Parts: sequence; C-alpha cells; structure tokens
Amino acid sequence: MRIAVVGGGPGGLYLSILLRKIRPDCEVTVFDRRAPTDTFGFGVVFSDETLTVFEHADPETYSQIVERFTRWSDIDIHYRGEKTTSGGHGFSAIGRRELLRILQERALSLGADVRFSTEAPAVSELRGADLVVGADGASSAVRTAMARDFVPSLDRRACRYIWLGADVAFDAFKFFIAETEHGVVQAHAYPYDSGMSTFIVEMHERTWKRLGLGEMSVDEGVAWSQRLFSDVLDGARLIGNNSRWINFVTVRNRRWCVDNVVLLGDAAHTAHFSIGSGTKLAMEDAVALAWAFRSFGDDVRAATMAYESERRPIVESTQRAAQASLEWFESIGRYIEQPRLQFAFNLLTRSRRVTYDNLRLRDPEFVRAVHPDARPPMFTPLRLRGLELANRVVVSPMDMYSAIDGTPGDFHLVHLGARALGGAGLVMTEMICVSDIGRITPGCAGMYRPEHVEAWRRIVAFAHAHGGSAMGAQIGHSGRKGSTRLMWEGMDEPLPSGENWEVIAPSAVRYGSRNQVPRAMTRADMDVVRDQFVSAARDSLEAGFDLLELHMAHGYLLSSFLSPLANLREDEYGGSLESRARFPLEVLDACRAVWPAEKPLSVRISATDWVPGGFDPDQAVAFARMLAAHGCDIVDVSSGQVSRMEKPAFGRSYQTPFADRIRHEVGMPVIAVGAISSYDDVNTIVAAGRADLCALARPHLYDPNWTLHAAAEQDFDLVRWVPQYQAGSRKPPAGRDRVRAELERTFEEILLASSEPQV
Ligand SMILES: Cc1cc2nc3c(=O)[nH]c(=O)nc-3n(C[C@H](O)[C@H](O)[C@H](O)COP(=O)(O)OP(=O)(O)OC[C@H]3O[C@@H](n4cnc5c(N)ncnc54)[C@H](O)[C@@H]3O)c2cc1C
Ligand SMILES: Cc1cc2nc3c(=O)[nH]c(=O)nc-3n(C[C@H](O)[C@H](O)[C@H](O)COP(=O)(O)O)c2cc1C
Repeated sequence: MRIAVVGGGPGGLYLSILLRKIRPDCEVTVFDRRAPTDTFGFGVVFSDETLTVFEHADPETYSQIVERFTRWSDIDIHYRGEKTTSGGHGFSAIGRRELLRILQERALSLGADVRFSTEAPAVSELRGADLVVGADGASSAVRTAMARDFVPSLDRRACRYIWLGADVAFDAFKFFIAETEHGVVQAHAYPYDSGMSTFIVEMHERTWKRLGLGEMSVDEGVAWSQRLFSDVLDGARLIGNNSRWINFVTVRNRRWCVDNVVLLGDAAHTAHFSIGSGTKLAMEDAVALAWAFRSFGDDVRAATMAYESERRPIVESTQRAAQASLEWFESIGRYIEQPRLQFAFNLLTRSRRVTYDNLRLRDPEFVRAVHPDARPPMFTPLRLRGLELANRVVVSPMDMYSAIDGTPGDFHLVHLGARALGGAGLVMTEMICVSDIGRITPGCAGMYRPEHVEAWRRIVAFAHAHGGSAMGAQIGHSGRKGSTRLMWEGMDEPLPSGENWEVIAPSAVRYGSRNQVPRAMTRADMDVVRDQFVSAARDSLEAGFDLLELHMAHGYLLSSFLSPLANLREDEYGGSLESRARFPLEVLDACRAVWPAEKPLSVRISATDWVPGGFDPDQAVAFARMLAAHGCDIVDVSSGQVSRMEKPAFGRSYQTPFADRIRHEVGMPVIAVGAISSYDDVNTIVAAGRADLCALARPHLYDPNWTLHAAAEQDFDLVRWVPQYQAGSRKPPAGRDRVRAELERTFEEILLASSEPQV
C-alpha cells in the first residue's frame, strides 16, 4: 500500500509511525515544507488521561516523550494583584520542537520517507497513492483543494492572540489577567522545560485595535506585552518565534474522508488553545486511523469511514468544550468585577467540563474558599421581593396536555403535587393560557373561566399545605402556534380539519407550511389580549400563586411580537426592537400593576431564534434591560422554537451562556434552563455566578424527587421531606445503589419478620 501524508506535524508524523509499525509493508511518504527544526510555537500541554492512549499506541515514543515532560498540578490565576491557586490538576508539557524531534526520529527509524523542506505536490497529483492524508494543519491545502467534498466551515473568532515564549519555567499553569484602559488582556502560560514557558497573549480584537497593536510591528507588540506583564514576568523575557497576532479559526468539516483522501488533526478540526487539546486530538486521530487500517486491511474506504465515525463524536464534544472556553475568554470583560474567588472558579469551570465536584475532588480547600457555606451552592436560598426560595432548583414549565376545556384536573394535582413534594425551591405550572383561542392544543390548561381558578387553587393549596416549594404560574397565549395537536399526536401540527380555531399573531405569517396563516392583530385585538393577561394574572393571585411568569418565549404570541421573523408589522409594534417590544411590555406593565408588589414576576424569553436575521442574544440583552425597567424581577432564559428554520447548537447546558450574559450585562437575576441534568451542573452554574436559579424540565419527569435525591447524594440533610415520606428519607451510606440495596434488605427483613409464627 502506498500512503502519502501531507504535513509532518504531530498528526502526520505519529500516523506514519503507527502505520509503519502495524503495516511494515506500507510505503509511507511524509511531505513537510519546513526543515526538521524549523517549527512555530513553544510548548504543548497534555493532560494525564491523554497519555495512556499514547502509551499503548507506541511505548517507544511514549517513554521518550514522558522523559522530557515538565509536570505540574497547580493552576494559578493572577488577578488584580492577587494569586488564587487551585491544585490537583495533573498536567504535562513538552516543547513542540522536542516533540517533533522525537516523532521525526522515530518515523525515520521505522522507515517512513519523511521529506523535509518539501512542498507537497497538489492533491490531484497525489491521488494515485492508495491513501492520501491531509495532515497539513489549520490552513490545509488538501482541504481547500477538495472543499466541495469536505464542505469545511471556518469560524474566525473575535480575539487576537500571539504565541510567545518566556525564558522562565513557571511553577504552575498561569492565567495572568491584566486590565488596560481599552479592555482586558489575558496571558495563558505554562512551563515546558527547565527554563522556558509558553506565553500566549490574547485579547478581544476591539481591545487589540484600540491599544494600537495593529499598527505596531510584532517586535513592538512583544515589547508592549513584556511591559504589561512585567510584574508577573519578574525580569523574564518574552520571545517570539515566527510569532504573529492572529485570530483563532475553528475548523469544522462536514466530511473528513472522501474516496481515498482523509483529513486528520487541525486540517479536519481545531479546538481553541485554551483547552490545550489540538496536539492531543491530532495524535489521537492518528491512533484511530492507524487502528482502522489494522482492522480493515487494504479496504481504504472502510478504514477511513470507521476512523471518522469513531473520532467525530469525541472531537465534536471537545470542540463544544473549546467553544465554551473561547467564548468565555472573548467575554472575559463581563466577569472582571466578580469577587476574586468566584472569578477564579468561573474561569476554571468555563468549558463546562470541569465542574464543582471535579474541583472539590481535586482541591477541596479551593472549593471551600470559593463557597464557604456548609450548604452546597444549589441549597442556598434566594429572595425575590417578598418570596424566599429554599433552593436554586426550579421545576421548569411543562405542558401536560391533559386539561379538559382548560380546567386542570386530577392529573395536574398529582403531577404538580408530586413535584411540590420533591424539594425544588420553585415549581412552575405549564403555560396557563389566557383564553380558549390562546391555547396551544385542546388539552392545554387555562385561566379564563371561574372553574379554572378553583381548579388551580386546589393544586396550589395542596402544594402549600404539604410541599416546601413556592408555586409559580406561567401565563401565555399561543398566537400563531395555537390550534395544534396534543404533543403525542403531532407536536405543532394543526388539528384535523373542522376542529381548528382562528389563530392570531402580529403578522399574517404562518409558523410552518402546514400551520394556519394567522390573522394579523388589530389594536383592538391587542386590547383584548392585554386584558386577558391581566385577568389571568388577577386570577393567578386569587388561586394563591407565589410568582407570576409571562411566557414571551418559544414562538408563542408575545414571543412572535419580539421576533423579526414573525413580526413584519409596519406600525409602531414592528420594526426596531423598541417597537417589537412595545406590546409585550404593555402586557408586562398591565400585569405588574395587578400583581402585588411583594410578589415576584418573571418573564421567559427565547434569547435567540437560532436563525440568521432573527432575534439574537444582543437583542435579548437589550430586551432584558427593558424588562428590568418595567418591573420584571427575573428573566427565565430559554431559546428557539420560534421558527422551523432554526439550527440550535444543543449540548450540555447550552442555553446557560445566554442567561449568564444577561445576568452580567444587565445586572438582573436570571433562570438558566436547558440540558442541565445533574446537581453538579446546578452547583457549578450557581457557584460561578452564571445564573441565580436553574430550571430542569425532563429530569423532573424522570424523577419528581430530583432535589431531595440531589440532597441525599450530597449528604445534605436540611431538606424538607414530608412526614409521610420520612421513613424513606434515610441518608444513603453512598450512592443510589446502596440505598436501593438497603431498602430492599429492610423490606426483606420486614417480610421475614412478619412471616415468623406468632406466639
Ligand atoms: C497558540 C497555540 C497554542 C497551542 N497550544 C497547544 C497545547 O498546549 N496543546 C496542544 O495539544 N495543542 C496546542 N495547540 C494546537 C497545536 O499546535 C495543533 O493543534 C497541532 O499542532 C495540530 O497538529 P497537526 O499535525 O494536525 O498540524 P500542524 O502541527 O499544524 O502541522 C501541519 C504541518 O503541515 C505542514 N504543511 C502544511 N501545508 C503543507 C504543504 N502544502 N506541503 C508540505 N507541508 C505542509 C506544516 O509545515 C506543518 O508542519 C496550540 C496551537 C496554538 C495556535
Ligand atoms: C413535556 C414538556 C412540556 C413543556 N411545556 C412547556 C411550557 O408549557 N412552557 C414552557 O415555557 N416550556 C415548556 N417546556 C420546555 C421546558 O420548560 C424546558 O425549557 C425545556 O424542556 C428544556 O429543559 P430540559 O433540558 O431540562 O428538559 C416543556 C418541555 C417539555 C419536555
């Protein structure tokens, strides 16, 4: 088999080593335009877990690499003249030059034909080989030549950075945070041999321009960085090596393999340097590709496809973490006023991979300093106006589609009642519709008839009598998404013909091709709807609710006023954000006027439509400011469901950054929601200051006692089990399985005891 590898970076070289090892009959030619010692950059970091993969793949290179490793376990955050240290992390680093030397020597010794200082022939010329590997880095010529096949996307990010070295071996991974008159400048630094450290200087493009770095030569920029960080460099010198100020580009490709050409490493995908994974990913790709050839022999197509399907999910998950991390640094100015320890915790948990629990295991002292309270962060109470919530967990609104003519029945009593016994600080109802045509489906609950008020009163009274949760009513109007089927009969699909009712919206634009075209609302319609909201707010008070939430999300009526995709009005209710917000704010004002001053009012928004040209996070921040000015106490930050064209970027707590942004930029409390599933996530979000409350929907369908169980798992006793359930509330020795085992044993014992002959 003849294999042509374009690029002799860590990915290309490691692949050639492994292929020559597994298949000594393979002819492997590596082209690299650089001379052997002519490389960019300084040191690269690896985490401990990465190393096991390399140990198994090629013990020879592994032992040479680890012999030269510089190791450390602390991360120091230097911020406003103070150093905060978090320990127990376990890093290793090696100079890039040294790493490449080891890989080059090993590849040559195994018989790979490594051609240095040689520009690779065009991919069209190489395709006569059995396999062509594009391992030619982030600006890959192989990828560009075959862009139609690989379908790359290149996302140029908002920060400028320069990769420098410092002639000092720091004793930890260091983040140096400097404030300038034009914004924050951060340095990421780590040692990689006995006398040198990598020193990457990074800042927002805006800051870079305002500081005049664009007009300076690279040497002047290095000297400027030297002066900015002179206190922490303490006499050490910053050194460049082909260094330039560049923007990080996140590379993604729809396909990584086409016929006999395959992309590997940075050519296929990049992950921001702040999570230190690029070299590791490239080398792990090499392991997976080589192993695929071991399994599939000469079947190039099968091997490359197996490689892509094995690696893609792992890489995408790393890219999601890298994306969260790079966005955090792009927005670092937002967090600069946080208290020192919280800032440090926020920085360390920025990728959403490192969590409260991880840090507690690695460095309990650090976490105790960040959160000295004996209660886990999720169990710290929160006051909103006159309402004190016992903890930070919210049962997110969930439509049960089980009401009859808008009246919630026994199902709702049991459903909400069970969750109110389950320990959450706040239990929200499903969207309670303000009129019959404001329902989404015929099964949606309402608050527009006297019997509705009585039915809700019964549920709230049960929760207040037995549970410890506050009860929140979410009121809303379906707008153009109304007159559709029950969730399990076809979500957002219109009712069978003859059963539909007229739907209204800001403009006569339908939600989807099968949905009805709504009637564009007149001012008289707006008066009616506003008054219906007010009446539902009054009735919610009557029914005893503690908190009122206005549903302005998910494409329902008030949300569609906000979205430029649904609101095409040319009067004062359409156009600019101020105009699109006019009617939703009018509804808010009217509801606030009847909702008592001591009770909090929340608004749920979709912070983005996930469609270009739609409502977006900038508008969400501006709108949240308006909400705060109109008496809203907390914004419940969801996203999407406004347009069928949406392309959401799902992932772990994927909507939390929108909430975080509003919290810091507007300075108001927020509820984060969406794919928050573990108590560790809730603790992390609260401790880092990303949100004040966390709403969980689906996890509460799985486990109504989610909060009580979270308390048990964290050995936290101060939660309220109803007396009827006390017998089952015993704290587990450790973990759920132990509880189950213990309960089973107890039950068995009881059975045994009761079956003994009575005397
Ligand atoms: C500032 C910064 C810091 C980083 N820090 C870390 C870190 O701490 N840890 C980490 O794991 N990763 C880090 N990385 C990422 C890491 O450098 C890359 O992800 C890694 O080098 C990718 O390896 P590769 O083999 O895919 O590509 P590269 O290392 O880019 O190698 C590509 C090679 O292809 C050659 N080439 C390109 N085109 C041609 C052509 N037409 N003909 C011949 N040769 C060609 C180039 O000369 C180059 O040698 C960092 C990156 C940056 C920018
Ligand atoms: C069955 C179901 C019904 C829902 N109904 C509503 C609703 O009435 N109002 C609302 O704002 N969100 C509703 N949602 C959205 C949730 O409140 C929540 O935002 C979403 O499910 C993401 O959270 P999760 O990842 O914790 O499930 C519903 C979600 C589910 C699963």
